[in-house]
Amino acid sequence: MDEKSYILEADSLYHVYESKAEEGNVVALRGLSVKVEQGEAVAVIGPSGSGKSTLLKSLGGLMTPTAGRVFLDGSDMTKLEGADLVEHRRSTVSFIFQEGNLLPDLSGLDNVMQPLRHAGIPAPEAKRQAVAVLERLGMTSRMKALPEQLSGGEQQRIAIARALITKPKLILADEPTGSLDPFTSQSVLDLFRELHKEEDVAFLIVTHSHDVADFSDRSLELRDGRFVAQHGEGIEVNDLIQNRELILDDIGTVSFPPDILLKLGGPGRYAVELIEPGRITLVSQAAKATAAAGNHRIYVANCPACDHEYGSTQEKQCPDCGSSRPKR
Ligand SMILES: Nc1ncnc2c1ncn2[C@@H]1O[C@H](COP(=O)(O)OP(=O)(O)OP(=O)(O)O)[C@@H](O)[C@H]1O
Ligand SMILES: [Mg+2]
Repeated sequence: MDEKSYILEADSLYHVYESKAEEGNVVALRGLSVKVEQGEAVAVIGPSGSGKSTLLKSLGGLMTPTAGRVFLDGSDMTKLEGADLVEHRRSTVSFIFQEGNLLPDLSGLDNVMQPLRHAGIPAPEAKRQAVAVLERLGMTSRMKALPEQLSGGEQQRIAIARALITKPKLILADEPTGSLDPFTSQSVLDLFRELHKEEDVAFLIVTHSHDVADFSDRSLELRDGRFVAQHGEGIEVNDLIQNRELILDDIGTVSFPPDILLKLGGPGRYAVELIEPGRITLVSQAAKATAAAGNHRIYVANCPACDHEYGSTQEKQCPDCGSSRPKR
């Protein structure tokens, strides 16, 4: 690890879901590396199936990736086990998932209090803190209901309150505002912003939302289990070409987003034509070969218009009829 202090550092993560089905195994993460600094907010954007949830679960220690290492606040999660893993996770990170966040037999309020009760905080104090967070999320009137009696958005707000209550250093969230209306979504983001600015909480948030990506310090673009680009502030989630930076990693690998690859001429061999500090010129060998073949085309022997015989001359125009001489 280098000098900077990272709350999260993942190195060359691979994950393969093994399957006996016809389609075979699914490679969900393909050598992915990422670093999040203390107090940094990072968004992860990418199409459905690109590996976002798999990444989040691997980073939070809820799933062991097939290969690669994850450091959470300096500890290697892939080496911790049992009670040590649970304790390190509890004291560092909170999750907000797409679904299945809540314990079904506990009321909303009890769900939010539960992490504090686990940490040995007496019930009256746990309740006071839980109600305070629920109040900020506009959820006090429905907090006594069981999860199944709540709407999707209400359940999500309970899950958010539960994630915030332990004052984690890092929040891993999978589409946290996905099931919320714009107004509630804005109040959740305001709360995130406050935690980010005032309490230096770091975030890694999977999102399709412009507002969430905009809240983040930077956004990483995930495609087929690999980060292919990064975007700074003011990201346009519907037009990723703008404001896009490619990432060259520590081992010298750069991945091209599919649209750039297409424009470049697709996969294949590229010659390095020029290297200057901060700039490299690549030339497609396929394009070069086509151009070279073009140069080698030779002039026709007879004029297609009047059948004049050029012989071995390099004349470009027919001396008999004036037609230009084509190549073949
Ligand atoms: N339990 C599993 N078994 C087998 N394959 C899986 C499993 N979970 C996910 N996958 C596959 O792994 C790939 C990545 O899935 P993942 O859930 O990480 O995608 P995602 O980016 O979160 O998608 P979405 O935006 O739809 O939530 C997909 O091709 C998916 O079909
Ligand atoms: Mg997902």
